[in-house]
Amino acid sequence: MKNHERFNNKRIVVSGGAGFVGGNLVKMLLSTADPCEVIIVDNLLSAEKSNIPDDQRITFRQGSIASDEILATLQDDIDYVFHLATYHGNQSSIHDPLADHENNTLTTLKLFERIKGFRKLQKVVYSSAGCAVAEKTYDQAHATAEDAPISLKMDSPYSISKIIGEFYSVYYHDRHGLPTVRARFQNVYGPGEILGAGQWRGTPATVWRNVTPTFVFKSLKKEALPVEGGELVSRDFIFVDDICRGLIACALAGKSGDVYNLASGMETTIRDLAQTINHLTGNSVPIQIKPAREWDHSGKRFGCTLKSRECLDFEARVTLSEGLKRTIEWTRQNLPLIESCMKKHDTQMKSFV
Ligand SMILES: NC(=O)c1ccc[n+]([C@@H]2O[C@H](COP(=O)([O-])OP(=O)(O)OC[C@H]3O[C@@H](n4cnc5c(N)ncnc54)[C@H](O)[C@@H]3O)[C@@H](O)[C@H]2O)c1
Repeated sequence: MKNHERFNNKRIVVSGGAGFVGGNLVKMLLSTADPCEVIIVDNLLSAEKSNIPDDQRITFRQGSIASDEILATLQDDIDYVFHLATYHGNQSSIHDPLADHENNTLTTLKLFERIKGFRKLQKVVYSSAGCAVAEKTYDQAHATAEDAPISLKMDSPYSISKIIGEFYSVYYHDRHGLPTVRARFQNVYGPGEILGAGQWRGTPATVWRNVTPTFVFKSLKKEALPVEGGELVSRDFIFVDDICRGLIACALAGKSGDVYNLASGMETTIRDLAQTINHLTGNSVPIQIKPAREWDHSGKRFGCTLKSRECLDFEARVTLSEGLKRTIEWTRQNLPLIESCMKKHDTQMKSFV
């Protein structure tokens, strides 16, 4: 039996399944296996319903994974849970920490309380974030390993929530035997990340989300790409198909109670990212170097891939230039959808100009 076939005839819950990573994961699960049901729970805070594939094996429950009504519909017949719901992202959480708490902390706690006694569960995969554990440095960065020390200084309520989710994953595993596995993502990019998806969350980050989709969109529009934090800032970019393969590896090969990095292990400066994207789209407008965001103390960072390679047999396969080509192509083809989602927030965006 191939690995993915182990999802055949299984019942799988994906919280946040209408979102960027969740939507891609659901598509991968349905195309490589034949689950009897994929239950998506999503309140569409940062997602579009159109991101959910039209497939009779999907049940969509629109609402919060912290809602008692939604939780009551989850029964002890579930085989796997992928818990991806989050309050997207750092800047929205700084703007509204209580909304972050409701959708990023309480969600994890209430979900784990509900499912802690479920006996059929084989794995509960929690999506954590590398940004919460990365060292805060502008000097030479070291690959962050899974057991790296974690500072009490966090840049945002989002990061705090992601780490609290890890604490609960460990606690519910140790205390209640919940088979949790933590997947710590680096910076994910790829098709399916819709600028402006979902509801207004208080800042322009509602529209611009992450650096890669912002750069791709602006580059296709022949605009200057804003490189925040100067020339040194770096991140570890991992293509969304690789993240989904990694999540599946966590579910099938991860050890309950443990944590794995899902990273490319490659450090790329934001300036190089901008120049590569401009090269691929043919945008000759010079990049714009801007000051660092005042809340962001994470200068350079990338993840260590040793443990996930050794224990999960997981390695990112898609190179940055290949992944960017696919992202640019997807963005080109989906410009009308992207622009209509961005447009929804025109009125609120005006007060930030
Ligand atoms: N994209 C990245 O670079 C990255 C990096 C590190 C970690 N992660 C983690 O990956 C996961 C997926 O992120 P993404 O990039 O796909 O973001 P996303 O915003 O596209 O997905 C999050 C989804 O959660 C949904 N949601 C929000 N509150 C909810 C609630 N109360 N109940 C149910 N659903 C709710 C949103 O509507 C959205 O569909 C998140 O847990 C995030 O913290 C992502």
